[in-house]
Amino acid sequence: MTKAEIQQVKLRFGIIGNTESLMRAIDVAIQVAPTDLSVLITGESGVGKESFPQIIHQFSRRKHGQYIAVNCGAIPEGTIDSELFGHEKGAFTGAIGERKGYFGEADGGTIFLDEVGELPLPTQARLLRVLESGEFLKVGSSKVQKTDVRIVAATNVNLTKAISEGRFREDLYYRLNTVPIQIPSLRERGEDVILLFRKFASDFAEKYRMPSIQLTEDARHSLLSYPWPGNVRQLKNITEQISIIETNREITASILQTYLPSQQEQRLPALLGVKIGKGFDSEREILYQVLFDMRQDVTELKRLVHEIMSERGAGSNAVPASNTAFYSPSVVTPPQSGSTINIVHPLGKQQDDDIQDTEEYIEESLSLDDLEKELIRKALDKHHGKRKNAAKDLNISERTLYRKIKEYGLD
Ligand SMILES: Nc1ncnc2c1ncn2[C@@H]1O[C@H](COP(=O)(O)OP(=O)(O)OP(=O)(O)O)[C@@H](O)[C@H]1O
Ligand SMILES: [Mg+2]
Repeated sequence: MTKAEIQQVKLRFGIIGNTESLMRAIDVAIQVAPTDLSVLITGESGVGKESFPQIIHQFSRRKHGQYIAVNCGAIPEGTIDSELFGHEKGAFTGAIGERKGYFGEADGGTIFLDEVGELPLPTQARLLRVLESGEFLKVGSSKVQKTDVRIVAATNVNLTKAISEGRFREDLYYRLNTVPIQIPSLRERGEDVILLFRKFASDFAEKYRMPSIQLTEDARHSLLSYPWPGNVRQLKNITEQISIIETNREITASILQTYLPSQQEQRLPALLGVKIGKGFDSEREILYQVLFDMRQDVTELKRLVHEIMSERGAGSNAVPASNTAFYSPSVVTPPQSGSTINIVHPLGKQQDDDIQDTEEYIEESLSLDDLEKELIRKALDKHHGKRKNAAKDLNISERTLYRKIKEYGLD
């Protein structure tokens, strides 16, 4: 590919930037497009991964076929197999009619599996089969279906880590990663940050019918030295905020600084806003977030303990009755149903203790539920109901958010 050809592709897909690594990524996408090889696009959140599967589809022989983009993190675990692979009529309660599924629909086309690291393990097994043989089974059917689909996947999480933690199949990783395309982070793109800022500033000026904002020399330096943890998405959002809020269209470094969260604050949720005030409100919100994170950890721990104890409980015949080090399989489930938090109690503990523990647990659970609900509501409000962005803020997967919205009746 010549530079001019790559420039044309950038223009067509609205990609700004001249960094060598970005140009190379576009070049690889175009080169690999006519083949049927699987491509895995990696890169931090907000780097612009979503244009790449479209480039690959458009430059392939499949361009007249279907292009289906699936956000694997946004589909509830219970329905993902049926969405991807279809189901037979009556396959499960509520399966009134039959469904073709994306793999059936995209026959002759391309499927983009975004956030592929979020796929549940059973779905990963089905996906591996379709990648290896082009064959799949609809949910509730034993009749093998054939399909000719090209897979492009993307992830912003470290799949190697997910593999070592047993959350992602290694064989599937290698199969998806036949051709890897790594999209560079914004902090690796040097002067591109200025080009992108100008482009976004001019787009927002047009959108809001105002003169475009301009950067002073020192503001350009600030933009160049900032690490951009949220990458191009963050730059775009900040440019929009400044375009709307600042009446003086010349943006100095000190004005810009007020929009750039400092390093320490970056660990804090974006729902605190760009400028974190020192008032009670933000402190309370910080506390909410800390509690929310802790709760995630505690829930996970409880689930693990429960799993381990149930395994032991299953073999309880082998456990001598006098052995109080073992735990009884008695499980107390808090009344706030929907959540999978279970608690197990040691054998030999007095009944009273058990009751007291349970009461404490319920109390703790209720107040934490309130906090969690409040935090989720705030995140949803802030993002005008956009679950994807709210989930990012809350540092949970979209699927978990979806479940919690249902659980708390927030929809
Ligand atoms: N090079 C670029 N030129 C112009 N706009 C860009 C560029 N890269 C990203 N963007 C814009 O930035 C935003 C984020 O990009 P995108 O949604 O593709 O991110 P992503 O890599 O898929 O992130 P995530 O992993 O969080 O889903 C989009 O609005 C996109 O249009
Ligand atoms: Mg994306």
